[in-house]
Amino acid sequence: MATEAWTREEWRSRPARHLPTYSDPAALRRVEAELRTVPPLVFAGEARRLQQALAKVSTGGGFLLQGGDCAESFADFNANTIRDTFRVILQMAVVLTFGGALPVVKVGRMGGQFAKPRSAPTETKGGLTLPAYCGDMINGPDFTAETRRPDPGRMLQAYHQSAATLNLLRAFAQGGYADLHRVHQWTLDFITNGPQWERYGGLCDRIGETLDFMAACGLTSDTAPQIRETDFFTSHEALLLPYEEALTRLDSTSGAWYCCSAHMLWIGDRTRQVDGAHVAFLRGVHNPIGVKVGPSMTAEELLRLCAVLDPDHEPGRLTLILRMGEDQIETRLPPLIRAVRESGWPVVWVCDPMHANTVKTVHGFKTRSFDKILAEVRRYFAIHRAEGTHPGGVHVELTGQDVTECLGGPQAITEAGLAERYHTFCDPRLNASQALELAFLLAERLRRERRA
Ligand code: PEP
Ligand code: CO
Repeated sequence: MATEAWTREEWRSRPARHLPTYSDPAALRRVEAELRTVPPLVFAGEARRLQQALAKVSTGGGFLLQGGDCAESFADFNANTIRDTFRVILQMAVVLTFGGALPVVKVGRMGGQFAKPRSAPTETKGGLTLPAYCGDMINGPDFTAETRRPDPGRMLQAYHQSAATLNLLRAFAQGGYADLHRVHQWTLDFITNGPQWERYGGLCDRIGETLDFMAACGLTSDTAPQIRETDFFTSHEALLLPYEEALTRLDSTSGAWYCCSAHMLWIGDRTRQVDGAHVAFLRGVHNPIGVKVGPSMTAEELLRLCAVLDPDHEPGRLTLILRMGEDQIETRLPPLIRAVRESGWPVVWVCDPMHANTVKTVHGFKTRSFDKILAEVRRYFAIHRAEGTHPGGVHVELTGQDVTECLGGPQAITEAGLAERYHTFCDPRLNASQALELAFLLAERLRRERRA
């Protein structure tokens, strides 16, 4: 990768959007100094393994499943929340692997997804105007002047919470929880009835039979670690650059820079300016990186971003996360696909069907209709079929909790029902049964692709 002259600090001389202004610069410097000395959260070799897996996805040999909270929170931090999100991703992956007969690359929006760009810098309630909530790593959600003031000390708490989250995820992924023999036990209580459960249960029975057959052939959890363990990677939006810079380390094995706060990092739709600070930072780290691609992206801009972020056309390096909206994807996406294909970039095309389908209800809830989410996914598959490119994966905001944040789905959540269990700190997430329903649709599309 052409990163000569790149330094960890070069982003500081570029225009930066959505970064907080800290009132105590000395406190910020103390936090940065401490973060520069803490152990990395991930190892560069793991990021390289993820890039190899994504390289396969770019040629149609795999599917990326990326999901988790819009914003992780300090208040919601406990083992059950982590386990439930991990479990629903695992359930989706099983449905996809079985239906699509493809390896599924599992990447959580977990262990670092704490900083949020906001549409407005301030929020006004009852005549009082305060800074908007920007994620627990920057300020707090409570509407008081004290908690809304950006506090650099929050970066340390986010680091430690991320370390504990990753520790548990590694234990779940490698320590037996993810053993395929347990597919039945991953069932979440609230989806154990109804037609959806029958479908998932039926699939688990077939997997059980397959495992019995494999055991008879001598392949068991003891002899084939692929049955017992899984790879699970972490990712987040690399928004808060002082934090990301401090966790960027030179890998002694390869002599290259890696941002060791997560395996994969992405640039948000609001901070993807080609001459901006976020692009300047991420171009120099060797992790696989993503860029959110919203409806305002032009083909020319996208090619300039590809050239800066992936000058060597490295397979698996660049994932384009499309968030067009179900009503815009059909006009916006094809010209982008053609431009990138003709220029030969081996990108992974991923569909984020959440972020451009957000609406506010009359009661003030930010929500998304499950039908529109599915519609965007269907169109995404149809467009790739027509263009002869690979639908490489999905990027979704989800939780294993039984929340009522998105409309519709198997539980037919209504506008009036949103208030029942609306827990998100930022954007509305799919709950476990909506996520599983999405997985069944994806599996069916992947099966069709395979046949075609
Ligand atoms: C997000 O993924 O939570 C987000 C802010 O998305 P986008 O950059 O696509 O708006
Ligand atoms: Co979001």
